[in-house]
Amino acid sequence: MNLVFLSSEVGPWSKTGGLGDVVGGLPPAMAAKGHRVMTVSPRYDQYKDAWDTNVVVEIRCFPELPAICRSKLGTELRLFDSSTATNGALIVFSSITQCSSRRFGEKPDPKSMDRGLDWITRTTNFASACCVRQAALEAPRVLNLNSNKYFSGPYGEDVVFVANDWHTALLPCYLKTMYQLRGIYKNAKVAFCIHNIAYQGRFAFTDFSLLNLPDEFKGSFDFIDGSDKPVKGKKINWMKAGILESDRVVTVSPYYAQELISGIEKGVELDNIIRKTGITGIVNGMDVQEWNPATDKYIDVKYDAETVMDAKPLLKEALQAEVGLPVDRNIPLIGFIGRLEEQKGSDILVQAISKFVGENVQIVILGTGKKAMEKPIEELEIIYPDKARGVAKFNVPLAHMIIAGADFMLLPSRFEPCGLIQLHAMRYGTVPIVASTGGLVDTVKESFTGFQMGAFNVECDAVDPADVNAVAKTVKRALATYGTPAIKEMIQNCMAQDLSWKEPARLWEKMLLSLEAAGSEPGI
Ligand code: GLC
Repeated sequence: MNLVFLSSEVGPWSKTGGLGDVVGGLPPAMAAKGHRVMTVSPRYDQYKDAWDTNVVVEIRCFPELPAICRSKLGTELRLFDSSTATNGALIVFSSITQCSSRRFGEKPDPKSMDRGLDWITRTTNFASACCVRQAALEAPRVLNLNSNKYFSGPYGEDVVFVANDWHTALLPCYLKTMYQLRGIYKNAKVAFCIHNIAYQGRFAFTDFSLLNLPDEFKGSFDFIDGSDKPVKGKKINWMKAGILESDRVVTVSPYYAQELISGIEKGVELDNIIRKTGITGIVNGMDVQEWNPATDKYIDVKYDAETVMDAKPLLKEALQAEVGLPVDRNIPLIGFIGRLEEQKGSDILVQAISKFVGENVQIVILGTGKKAMEKPIEELEIIYPDKARGVAKFNVPLAHMIIAGADFMLLPSRFEPCGLIQLHAMRYGTVPIVASTGGLVDTVKESFTGFQMGAFNVECDAVDPADVNAVAKTVKRALATYGTPAIKEMIQNCMAQDLSWKEPARLWEKMLLSLEAAGSEPGI
């Protein structure tokens, strides 16, 4: 297959979260299976030291593109040869002046902010999205891939595009209007992957005219016409259009797929639409090279499944010393790593601590996020000087030390499309304690590889998201196993899991091959 992934971020270059990890990991895994793969992503200035632009191809902007984009869109596609970093998947960076000078995480003009829009202004957002979309649609046609070391012939037009999240959701609309109507990309297909439905790209209704799409597309964007549910305000919704106009809708775990169609809350008002289109859930893999306890440069004692029981107490002591907790290998230690925001439940965690802090336990929290949520994390050490530490910083070495040195990793997420920390934890023999939601349900097996908060919920079809009591109860249940043969077995089970991209790539391949061959049969 000829695959073109497009995304607003790609690891290791531009990574703000799990999306960057996935787009850094899945395309090379598909390339390893023999497919021709390219990934198209914007070029951001803060990474320019890493940019070694080998080939630059100029492309013309389409006159049909919205004026707002045309004025800002640079006309070059940059091809960055990244063979070592990406194992044969070609990375194409698209570049525009306006966008490339913006940094991820920069605060936008509050007037132009919309739900989910927290890193770029509306105009730049439109332009950036335009840029990556056009680059993805043009790259297979204009880049001279004949002579490229990865490919033996021209890329061709039989492409399967994989668009990721709302920033890239409009690709199928432009594919249809600007290309397929003219007989180009006649057999091309689009899979749209939802990594987080909480961010949809909702804009003012009047912004539809900026998109320069024919009126017949209005229904796909219009939140009121297309949805059976009442919504607040009149908006257009990019993600809704992506879902409706793509050939296949995918998400990052089977359980999240079910949650998305379970009702208005987990589907964030798009549940009806997804129920109609169908959806396929495939759990993400992780980078087993970067996260490997046998080679990890950030930990003093390297280990594997055979040596884990000797190594972990030493690594725990190193972690306790690092964060200033009493150094004692016999105290079970719980870690939390994640963005400090509602999704990850860091506020639930802070409240739950008071309910289990009476146990023999220590807790270390690492993450940055909303200021209002950072403060209570940083204050923990004042309230519980011998028991808890909160570090509201971005700190990669400490993240590795926690993953390796903790006995348990806590994920009290309110929702979690897939989740990565529980995978990292398992690879290091650190047993996850998780809310029963999304990918956490699919990846952590109760009493085998971890502890599920909804596991003993009698109405267990609809497992509850984390709540304060569920967190405290499950933490106590986990602590009761500390030092027993049961937990030693769980540590071994965790470390025996194949969490690499191998199996996810097999499932993606199966799904994309069926899409390429048969068109748009819904999943689930
Ligand atoms: C989003 C989700 C997370 C998922 C990641 C990669 O960040 O919140 O659960 O693991 O995307 O798919």
